[in-house]
Amino acid sequence: MSKYQFPEGFLWGGATAANQLEGGYLEGGKGMNLADVMPGGKIREKVISTPGFDFELDREQYTYPNHEGIDFYHRYKEDIALFAEMGFKSYRMSIAWSRIFPKGDELEPNEEGLTFYDRVLDECLKYGIEPVVTISHYEMPLYLIKEYGGWRSREVITFFDRYAKTLFNRYKNKVKYWLTFNEINAGVIEPLFSLGFSPTTKDVRLQESFQALHHVFVASSLAVKACHEIIPGSQVGCMLLYAPIYSFDCNPVNEWYAFSEARIFNNICGDVHVRGEYPSFSKRYFKENDINIKMEEGDLETIKQYPVDFISFSYYMSRTEKKELTDEEKASGNFFSGVKNPFLKASDWGWEVDPIGLRLSLNQLYDRYRVPLFIVENGLGAYDKIEEDGSINDDYRINYLREHIEAMGEAVEDGVEIMGYTVWGCIDLVSASTGEMSKRYGFIYVDKHDDGSGTLERRKKKSFYWYKNVIATNGQEL
Ligand code: BG6
Repeated sequence: MSKYQFPEGFLWGGATAANQLEGGYLEGGKGMNLADVMPGGKIREKVISTPGFDFELDREQYTYPNHEGIDFYHRYKEDIALFAEMGFKSYRMSIAWSRIFPKGDELEPNEEGLTFYDRVLDECLKYGIEPVVTISHYEMPLYLIKEYGGWRSREVITFFDRYAKTLFNRYKNKVKYWLTFNEINAGVIEPLFSLGFSPTTKDVRLQESFQALHHVFVASSLAVKACHEIIPGSQVGCMLLYAPIYSFDCNPVNEWYAFSEARIFNNICGDVHVRGEYPSFSKRYFKENDINIKMEEGDLETIKQYPVDFISFSYYMSRTEKKELTDEEKASGNFFSGVKNPFLKASDWGWEVDPIGLRLSLNQLYDRYRVPLFIVENGLGAYDKIEEDGSINDDYRINYLREHIEAMGEAVEDGVEIMGYTVWGCIDLVSASTGEMSKRYGFIYVDKHDDGSGTLERRKKKSFYWYKNVIATNGQEL
């Protein structure tokens, strides 16, 4: 028996994103979106971050794994039944904007898209699974990217407002928990996924990103307002990519550097969403980086008046920073850059595994904001092997999750209010950063491979049974 006490009604579950599992990329009247033009494989990051990336398909050179995903579009019943078998209390899913508004700027939504999500939500509710819905998860309609320049354009606020209100009105009797923008602060380092544009040049990246982020902040606040009006009792959260930042050593120069990086990366977006205002330190940061945010009258009031109800976040790793890096140190960094932490081991993809970092994140966020927290992504991307008898013994994943759940249990003891925990990629899906299938997170194995082959058959891994028991005992047996 574990010593941890998780609250009654704790929302144990799993998380996915529409573009990474649905497939059916042109079915049901869906329009093209950002994920549809992202190539598969480790080349993905390089292709999309090359200045001048034209958002066109190039089938001669690349494959596009998100087009088929794991075919959840046709197999959602089977998949949700498996989630129910594990005892999920909640399922964090996202809605593909381009299924509802194929181009993004239409006045009327696409009924077929709305009906699809009616079915998915009904299937969850049938099993008593609480849906937690992300409105925008890394898949802006392509038309908005090409014609409007993504979130750099203020007009997108209007389109998003229409989209969000359409969802609230349609699903008001089915969905109580909503998340506005996935990993919104990722835009501070890489604007493409969350803000829908490739910076014009390196020099204007920060200016363009923060201008776009400002538009997103206004859109998010308007969504909070609309959601509360349309669905009484609903709760809306922001969604942050959270990584505590350590100083490489106790040299105050490095300590200050790590602290400053954390303020920019972790705090600006949270402060705006929860406290309803830009933090005091942002003024100097904006000035020193030539960032001039164009605001309209009423923007700051809107942001102040409609803060989120809770914070949700993803946690995969911590980050370690040092002010001056040698070339060798530069190359040693984690996913986020920085330097290698000599005390941590990394996953096969170089993501440093740090359960204490999760306890720290929970405490830092709760100390700062005093609102409930929801861990909506955590998990281990790993290579899985099917044994001769057909089993998949993913003890490495069980160990990873156990250590992180224990860290979460410690944070509960520390007094942090936590609403739930949804494991990322509860069923294998296409990786967001590399477009690979071989980077697997699931409790459920999907027979699909990086070269596109596979039967799409589903198979339970050892972790499936383990997690089922964790949920059944409310974290008492880990
Ligand atoms: C988060 C994203 O950054 O990390 C997910 O919200 C993503 O969409 C997850 O899949 C894991 O990243 P990756 O690159 O391993 O898929």
